[in-house]
Amino acid sequence: MKAVEIKSGIYWVGSVDWAIRDFHGYETPRGTSYNNYLILDEEPTLVDAVHHNFAHVTLENISRIIEPRKILNIVINHIENDHATGLEKILEVVPDAKIYITEKGRKGLSRFIDLTPYKVNTVKSGDTLNIGKRTLHFIETPMMHWPDSMFTYVKEEKLLISQDAFGQHIACSERFDDEFVKNRSMEELEDAVIDYYANILMPYGNVIRGKIEEIKKSGIEIDMIAPDHGVIWRSHLDKVFTLYNQMVDAKAILGAVIVYDTMWHSTEEMITPIAKALNDMDLPVKVIKLRATPKSVAVKEVWKYRGLIVGSPTLNNNIFPSVAEFLTYLKGLRPKNRLFGAFGSYGWSGEAVKDMYEYAKQMKLEIFGEGVRVLYKPSEEDLQKCYDFGLAFGKALKEYHAKF
Ligand code: FEO
Repeated sequence: MKAVEIKSGIYWVGSVDWAIRDFHGYETPRGTSYNNYLILDEEPTLVDAVHHNFAHVTLENISRIIEPRKILNIVINHIENDHATGLEKILEVVPDAKIYITEKGRKGLSRFIDLTPYKVNTVKSGDTLNIGKRTLHFIETPMMHWPDSMFTYVKEEKLLISQDAFGQHIACSERFDDEFVKNRSMEELEDAVIDYYANILMPYGNVIRGKIEEIKKSGIEIDMIAPDHGVIWRSHLDKVFTLYNQMVDAKAILGAVIVYDTMWHSTEEMITPIAKALNDMDLPVKVIKLRATPKSVAVKEVWKYRGLIVGSPTLNNNIFPSVAEFLTYLKGLRPKNRLFGAFGSYGWSGEAVKDMYEYAKQMKLEIFGEGVRVLYKPSEEDLQKCYDFGLAFGKALKEYHAKF
């Protein structure tokens, strides 16, 4: 994709990765983009590098605007591989550029790149860099997404360059939120924001809440948020702030997602009466079959619903592998304020349901009951037990949801 001027003299010079479907284990069916920004001023400045596979694209985009060797400053807001591993190739062109980075960023980046030959300046919150007509303000945002992370705010332009925050894993030709909404839909954009938050930022909700409040209190004016992935926000800033506040507060729909896998369909057969019971209580239900659906999609649905019911057969005394993978992944993302229940079939020993509850306890989810287990294949009586479990779960879910 060609460079795009996002403000007068400020350009998106990033790359669109149409093909990526696995982003460090997070399935990305929409692909992604690696955004970075060139600010033309007395001291031309590049904000953020890029994934190493796309350094040539950034350099080509820059070369359509200025000679890349004219860049005097490079700001590194975040050192994760998708943003910083292309830095070496960029530094081959501009070895004398001054690098601006947090101290934690410097320490981390030096594990990837020998920084000895380069001019590295560490910065912290409150530090500024005058580049001519504009001044860059640095705001540290540790754990949003890594300890090194920071925002770069361009005061004169009311532009917040926010690295991972407010991003989305979308590969598209639209660079701005309003273009995307016009050509596709707000629903798809919202879905991508929730998907990204659930799979990348969910563990750091409290940090994000604090940082959003700090920015609001500081009174800085923002009319554009330029993240390092997906579209740039210039028209729907209120929408993305509202979404973030809701996600940070773990807001949820009063309903349940059932995430499961099955060996010979016995566990699967248990879903129908559970879902029917919830529907009979006017509770919406979403059913996700693992192995047929990316676990990152399942996590996004967990984020949407107050209730989480997980189904797994017992395989060789264990949780079925795809369900165990999902639960391990979910545990790392530290969901909160969700009511948990479990069910599953078994042939001999039947540990899966108990083991799934152990996961839920470790995640500090609200625990409902002890689950439903069925030997080999559900009988009529077992199906009734599943229905009763669904009714009891639904009742508890309504009571639990009322607390928020
Ligand atoms: Fe897009 Fe935390 O990297």
